[in-house]
Amino acid sequence: MGWVSTSKATALLSAVLLAATGAIAAGEAKLQVDLSSPDSIRAAAKIVAANLFSYYHGNQPGQTPGILPGPPPGGPYYWWQAGAMWGTYIDYWFYTGDSTYNDETVRAMEFQSENSYQPANWTLSLGNDDQGFWGMAAMLAAETNFQNPPDGQTPWLTLAQAVFNTQAWRWDMEYCNGGLHWQIPTTNGGYDYKNSIANVVFLNIGARLARYTKNDTYAKWVDTAWDWIEGVGYITKDYNVLDGGHTEENCTDINPVQFSANMAVLLHGSAIMYNYTNGSEKWRARVAGLLNHTIDFFFPDGIMVERACELPDRVQCNTDQHSFKGYMHRALATTAVVAPFTREQIVRVLRSSTEGAVSSCLADGTCGFRWNTGSYDGDNVVGPAGQEMSALAALSTLLIDQQKVLNGPLTNTTGGTSQGDPSAGGTFNALAPPKPITTADRAGAGILTAVVLATFLGGLVWMGMGWSEGS
Ligand SMILES: *[C@@H]1O[C@H](CO)[C@@H](O)[C@H](O)[C@H]1NC(C)=O
Ligand SMILES: *[C@@H]1O[C@H](CO)[C@@H](O)[C@H](O)[C@H]1NC(C)=O
Ligand SMILES: *[C@@H]1O[C@H](CO)[C@@H](O)[C@H](O)[C@H]1NC(C)=O
Ligand SMILES: *[C@@H]1O[C@H](CO)[C@@H](O)[C@H](O)[C@H]1NC(C)=O
Ligand SMILES: *[C@@H]1O[C@H](CO)[C@@H](O)[C@H](O)[C@H]1NC(C)=O
Ligand SMILES: *[C@@H]1O[C@H](CO)[C@@H](O)[C@H](O)[C@H]1NC(C)=O
Ligand SMILES: *[C@@H]1O[C@H](CO)[C@@H](O)[C@H](O)[C@H]1NC(C)=O
Repeated sequence: MGWVSTSKATALLSAVLLAATGAIAAGEAKLQVDLSSPDSIRAAAKIVAANLFSYYHGNQPGQTPGILPGPPPGGPYYWWQAGAMWGTYIDYWFYTGDSTYNDETVRAMEFQSENSYQPANWTLSLGNDDQGFWGMAAMLAAETNFQNPPDGQTPWLTLAQAVFNTQAWRWDMEYCNGGLHWQIPTTNGGYDYKNSIANVVFLNIGARLARYTKNDTYAKWVDTAWDWIEGVGYITKDYNVLDGGHTEENCTDINPVQFSANMAVLLHGSAIMYNYTNGSEKWRARVAGLLNHTIDFFFPDGIMVERACELPDRVQCNTDQHSFKGYMHRALATTAVVAPFTREQIVRVLRSSTEGAVSSCLADGTCGFRWNTGSYDGDNVVGPAGQEMSALAALSTLLIDQQKVLNGPLTNTTGGTSQGDPSAGGTFNALAPPKPITTADRAGAGILTAVVLATFLGGLVWMGMGWSEGS
C-alpha cells in the first residue's frame, strides 16, 4: 500500500480533476435514499454494490480472478485494495442479506490466497499490510459464518491464522526494539520503514483470533504489538496514531501524518480486545481514547474527512487513500457492537457521515470522495473503486440494528463453522512473543537471524519470477 503521495503526481491529478469536475452536468439525478428506512438503505446499497462491481473484471474470460485493474501502469489499483473490497462485500452481505456477490467473493479470495496471501505475482508491492487486508477479509468471513469454500480449498479461519503466523514469524527485534517492517521482501523500497499500518493490521488479526479461538497466545501477541506501537511513539498520549519511522533512525524520525486507516484498524482491534478481556479497564480506556480522537479529528461536523490529504482547497489523496472512509465506517460499526458503551456515540456519527456520503452519490450509484459538499465531486481520476467501497460500507453498516449483528462476531463456540489450523502458514513451535533482546542474547540472536534470513531467501526463490517481472 502506498501511503505517501508524491506531490508531483498530486499536482497533476488536481489539475485533471478540476477539468473533470467541470464536465459533470449540473442537476444530474441523485441517489434517493431514506436513511430511516432499512428497506430504502438496502435498495440504495444494492445500486452502489452493482456500481462497484462494474470496476471488477476478474470474472471475465482471460482476466485474473480476485483483483481490481492494476497495479500501475496496468490500472490504478494495488493488489491489497481488492482484498479490502471483498471484505466490504462480505460486510455488505452480512448487513443487507444480499448474496449476489458471495460466489465471486469466495472464488476471488481463494484464488488469491496462494502462499498465505503472498502470491508471487504481487511481490513487488507486497507489504505486511497488503497481505493483512486479505487476512482481515478472511477473518471477517469466519466471524460472519460467510459461506465456506468448496472442499479442498483453504478455510477462512485457517487463512487468517496463516497470515497471522507468517507475520508473527517476521516480528523483528533487530531494529527499533521490535515491530514489523512495512514491506515483506527485504529488497522492496520501504522495507526500512516500520509503520503503524503493518503493525495495527497484525494486532487486529491477533485480537480477532484470540476472541474467535479463545487461544490466549494471540492475545499475548496483541499486548506485545500495542506496547511496541505505543512505546515507539506512534500512538501518542492523546491517542493520535502517527504513520511510522525508519529503522536507520531507530524509528525516531516519526512521520506525524494521521491516516484514518491506521486508526480504524487499531480501534477495531482494541474494541475486540476490550470484549475478549470481558471489559477490562485497560482496553476500555484505549477504546474510549481512540474513539474520541477519531470523532474529533476525522469527523468534523459529523461527516468523515480524510484530513491528511483531503484539504479544503484540493484533494491530494492517492488511489489507496480514496478507499479509507469505508474501513473507518466498518470498524466503527463493529466497535459499537463489541464495546456497547460506545454505541450511542458511534451510531450518531455513522448516521450523520452516511448522510454526507449519500449526498455525494448520483442515481446510478456513482459516489464522490468528498462527503461534505452535498453533491457529487466528480473525483474519479485515481479510480472510482475506493469511493464506491466507502459509500457501500457507510450504507451497509447503518443496518447495525439487527439481532444477528448485535450478537457480535461469531466465535468457534457461538456458530462459526470455519475450520482452523493453528500451525497454518508454516510450522511454528511454541509461537510466543519475544522478550526484548538483552546483550547476553545478542550472539545467539545473530545466528538466529542468519538462519531465518537463509530460510526466507529460500522462500523467495520458491516464490518464483515475481522479482524480475515488472521491475
Ligand atoms: C499471476 O499472473 C499470471 C499471469 O497474468 C496469471 O495467469 C495468474 O492467474 C496470476 N495469479 C494470481 C494469484 O494472481
Ligand atoms: C475452538 O478453538 C479452540 C482453540 O483452537 C479449541 O480448543 C476448541 O476445541 C474449539 N472449539 C470448537 C467448538 O471448535
Ligand atoms: C531505540 O528506541 C527504543 C525505544 O523505541 C529504545 O528502547 C532503544 O534504547 C533505542 N536504541 C538505541 C540504539 O537508541
Ligand atoms: C471472560 O469471562 C469468561 C466467562 O466468565 C471466562 O471464561 C474468561 O476466561 C474471561 N476472559 C478473560 C480474558 O478474562
Ligand atoms: C470521550 O468523550 C466523551 C464524550 O464527549 C467523554 O465523556 C469522555 O470522558 C471522553 N473520554 C476520553 C477517554 O477522553
Ligand atoms: C461483547 O460483545 C457482545 C456482543 O456484541 C456484547 O453482548 C457484550 O456485552 C460485549 N462485552 C462487553 C464486556 O462489553
Ligand atoms: C494457540 O496458538 C498458538 C499460536 O498459533 C499455537 O502455537 C498453539 O498450538 C495454539 N493452541 C491451541 C490449543 O490451539
